[in-house]
Amino acid sequence: MLKNIHIFSALISFTLFFIRGLWVMRGSAMMQQKWVRIVPHINDTILLGTAIALTISIGQYPFVDAWLTVKLFALVAYICLGIEALHLAKTHIGRSVAWLSALIVFLFIVSVALTKAPFGFLYSYMV
Ligand code: HEM
Repeated sequence: MLKNIHIFSALISFTLFFIRGLWVMRGSAMMQQKWVRIVPHINDTILLGTAIALTISIGQYPFVDAWLTVKLFALVAYICLGIEALHLAKTHIGRSVAWLSALIVFLFIVSVALTKAPFGFLYSYMV
């Protein structure tokens, strides 16, 4: 149940971030909508809350288990790149690069979650 909520909110996070990136790059007025400003924060709180609950329920923790340490740092990278893409970057190329990088980091996090290995989909390049 907890894991399903976690996965579902990860999916919502990805979808909302993907769409908001397109809206920002087109200069869409959708970014001014109240729900667009609120829902992502509520969803990200659920994602992090279920992440914490899951670590407790499986007894594995960041700074103890490498794959969770990587997940945590990659989440911070995803958030920073997201802020850059949606709010800080001044040029179109800057926004696009930050947006694409954030999407790649997100997919990396999913691969770390599925493999429970710190390198995730990068594993084949590491051996
Ligand atoms: C964007 C951020 C995140 C995404 C996309 C994500 C994605 C996922 C996915 C897809 C799973 C299911 C894996 C499976 O089928 O076994 C999962 C499970 C899990 N995630 Fe996350 N996650 C994120 C952030 C985090 C963070 C920050 C933590 C904690 C540091 C965390 C802790 C866990 C735990 C403990 C599980 C359960 C693993 C198990 O049941 O064995 N997640 N996550």
